[in-house]
Amino acid sequence: MSMSAEKTTVQTIRVKKRDGAKVVTVTAYDYFTAKLADRAGVDVILVGDSLGMVMLGYESTLPVTMEEMLHHVKAVARARPKAMVVADMPFMSFQAGWEEAVKNSGRFVKEGGADAVKLEGGLAVLEKVKAILRAGIPVMGHVGLTPQSILKFGGYRVQGKGQRAREAVIADARALDEAGCFSMVLEGVPASLGKEIASKVKAVTIGIGAGPDCDGQVLVCHDLLGINDELTPRFVRRYASLAADTQAAFEKFAEDVREGKFPSPEECYDDGGPKQ
Ligand code: KIV
Repeated sequence: MSMSAEKTTVQTIRVKKRDGAKVVTVTAYDYFTAKLADRAGVDVILVGDSLGMVMLGYESTLPVTMEEMLHHVKAVARARPKAMVVADMPFMSFQAGWEEAVKNSGRFVKEGGADAVKLEGGLAVLEKVKAILRAGIPVMGHVGLTPQSILKFGGYRVQGKGQRAREAVIADARALDEAGCFSMVLEGVPASLGKEIASKVKAVTIGIGAGPDCDGQVLVCHDLLGINDELTPRFVRRYASLAADTQAAFEKFAEDVREGKFPSPEECYDDGGPKQ
């Protein structure tokens, strides 16, 4: 297999941390969004299980299946981005045992075309992380507020507040780092904890609601683009208002159709006969 010299790899991402360059990550779930993100020069495209909420309308990420994830991972990989494509392991695709974790992460690489997988959890999933790494698949960890654990957390609550909770998140991050994760998402933790972990681990820390001192940042594309105009957590910054723009475009199209303004003669095929 020949790999484009340009393709962003685990090594490229690690070098960025060494050089103090921030790693830019966005989620994408479809071919065109992946192409646009890649053209914009992002480093990592994460096909997050957040797709369950923003693409499929589930109330949480818990119902997302492997087949749903694969469908979207394949679409993103078909864009053949220079950016690394990271596939998110959905709830119960790895928790039950290391063999299942290896099989499912292998499916993301072999069938889906992903460059790496991400899974939520620290010490509790270490055995699975190590098994996936032994299979030769790069792993991005995810600690702090792990949305697949909302039932245990009692909702989407900031993690790592207070000394014991803080030490627990640090222990998770350290364990993933020592296991060999090339990167890890730090989600929903105090900014001071994001900073401390970023300075303590070799892995590239990608923050979301974890302050400015992580080695990179990630946002869900529907939040960043303002496609989701319903929920604005504090850590989201909107860079566009696509919900309003899209609704306005649909309204204008509806008006033009209803008033007979669309299509115009220029937007019609003629039959090749003499022009009237
Ligand atoms: O599922 C997802 O999109 C994520 C990111 C928010 C990190 O896990």
